[in-house]
Amino acid sequence: MPTHDTRKVAVLAGIGAWLPPRVVDNDELSRRLDTSDEWIRTRTGIGERHVVDPGMSTVDMAVEAGARALRSAGSAEIDAVVLATATPDQVCPASAPQVASGLGLGSVAAFDVNAVCSGFVYALATAAGLIAADVARGVLLIGADAFTTLLDPADRSTVPIFGDGAGAVVLHAGEAGQDGAVGPFDLHSDGELSELLIVPAGGSRMKRSTNPADHCFSMRGPAVFRHATARMAESSRAVLDRAGWTIADVDRFIGHQANIRILQATAKQLGLPADSLVVNIERTGNTSAASIPLAMADAAADGTLQQGDRVLLSAFGAGLTWGSTVLRWPDVIPG
Ligand code: UT7
Repeated sequence: MPTHDTRKVAVLAGIGAWLPPRVVDNDELSRRLDTSDEWIRTRTGIGERHVVDPGMSTVDMAVEAGARALRSAGSAEIDAVVLATATPDQVCPASAPQVASGLGLGSVAAFDVNAVCSGFVYALATAAGLIAADVARGVLLIGADAFTTLLDPADRSTVPIFGDGAGAVVLHAGEAGQDGAVGPFDLHSDGELSELLIVPAGGSRMKRSTNPADHCFSMRGPAVFRHATARMAESSRAVLDRAGWTIADVDRFIGHQANIRILQATAKQLGLPADSLVVNIERTGNTSAASIPLAMADAAADGTLQQGDRVLLSAFGAGLTWGSTVLRWPDVIPG
């Protein structure tokens, strides 16, 4: 008897983004830190970043982006909210249930995924799994981080790099091969290198530290730079292989927006033309789990992404974690 694959796949059906209104440009940072617009632009590609005001949280941003993604998707049936974040409103509980309530979604399943800057790709795989296993037919997936709340305001090695924001997508159960179908995936981690990017205190190993720096994010930038480039290139090759695509098949490469030089070096290693890169870091900085959906929403809004484009997504972040996936861009307008 002939067999055919009847598994449902996750299909992107809506997208939305939200950035906090307060913009901090490089000149403003240069007035309070030993840095310059020239250094930040040349080393990172960042010109400005959006920053939460005191009292504004990850949940607030996620609700804004989630509402826009739901609007973009039209009459979406949602059974689950997956929130990719490393900056939940509280250490306990997870923030996704508050996002679901804030959006008036009732008693849907809701949980957080923490893979830091790889969070969106990890959560996309999680959401696709919920759909493939028939646990959910519609998932609202939000990448949101208030990463500036983790920083030591006097640390010039992290403050210029990070910004806050949220990006969201709606995923529906659909068929492999249709526009918007997401996958396959390639996901990895290396906990041996967790100390390269870390907030040492505040968790179960060291609840409180007398050294305030232990409660702030620290990053060994140059080492992370090398790992990010090598791992994103490796993972991109693996996922293309799994998808049966070649490098020449890729119309757009949307990498985690950590540093324009990392994106360019990764594209070069892969042999991707520079004009396939989607880059919005100039006005967002590194927004952690929000960066890929924010870049997708910008590129969809300005026409860089066109229906049918073959898109490669790849991310790298603290953990270490990294991963990639592919999709064919659907006919969606950001909400
Ligand atoms: O999203 C999670 C993953 N994160 C990343 O992927 C970040 C990866 N790392 C990077 O993007 C880069 O390593 C940074 C942007 C963080 C740093 O750039 P770099 O080219 O690796 O600079 P560096 O740390 O090697 O520092 C070069 C010089 C040093 O001075 P000396 O020792 O050469 O005199 C630093 O002290 O630049 C100095 N420096 C600065 N100067 C002005 C470091 N930060 C600054 C600053 N302004 N903000």
